[in-house]
Amino acid sequence: MTAKIINGKEISKQKRSELALEVESLKEKGICPGLAIILVGDSPASLSYIKGKQKAAEEIGLLFKLEHFSGNISEDFLLEVIDQYNQDDRFHGILVQLPLPAHINELHVIDRILPEKDVDGFHPINVGKLVTGQEGLVSCTPAGIIEMLKIEGVQLSGKHAVVVGRSNIVGKPIAQLLLKENATVTTCHSKTADLSYYTKQADILIVAIGRANLIKGSDVKKGAAVIDVGMNRLDSGKLTGDVLFDEAKEQAGFITPVPGGVGPMTITMLADNTVKAAKMIEAGKMKA
Ligand code: GUN
Repeated sequence: MTAKIINGKEISKQKRSELALEVESLKEKGICPGLAIILVGDSPASLSYIKGKQKAAEEIGLLFKLEHFSGNISEDFLLEVIDQYNQDDRFHGILVQLPLPAHINELHVIDRILPEKDVDGFHPINVGKLVTGQEGLVSCTPAGIIEMLKIEGVQLSGKHAVVVGRSNIVGKPIAQLLLKENATVTTCHSKTADLSYYTKQADILIVAIGRANLIKGSDVKKGAAVIDVGMNRLDSGKLTGDVLFDEAKEQAGFITPVPGGVGPMTITMLADNTVKAAKMIEAGKMKA
């Protein structure tokens, strides 16, 4: 069996053109969704991610602003910048690119963004809403994964989903979203004993642990849907996922490639969250 390749680039393209139409009609009503990204330092990986986010934002017609600061700004300065964007009505979404320099506490920064502008879905209010089943902004990578699985017609209800990784950005929120879809969810992590015992049982296998080629073909159940969130740069410069693609695709029913799978969809969902935030904030103003 050779798996169906889930083409994140194509799915993204379609979603971006739908979002562009939605933004056009919002603009006709006088609403232009705006996204501000704040970058501290010059990490090449962060710069490259942000370039992709800016391209998508502009393609979709969002107002976009990048604030780029040197790596030695203080935490207080950064918090003041966030306060300014919290108060700036032109921007409905604020994203502070992570990781931050070690002298800045990420949790303080995430807490400072207004939950209604937290297009990363990292604020404790949004995480709490996700866990309790309330409408809020959901972390982009997990939201994109669910969207891809649904578009491909992968059944989630009653299936066993195994998540490898327990990060706040991917592992924990995707486990919650899968639960919401009535999957039976197991979360594994770097200390899990006999990882393959679990992965071999997965109808849906989400791998987000950041270890190149950790999951081999023999770790995958026949016909499973395999979602590879890994983005590992090998010494050769090649970008590779957490799943050994060539082996796993012979076992799986569906599989995402790296690059071209989860990555483009994550960026698209950031634009989606910005449009959602704009609609919610502007609707709130009308009620007030
Ligand atoms: N760095 C890597 N991924 C992300 C993300 O999804 N959001 C933010 N803010 N920073 C990141």
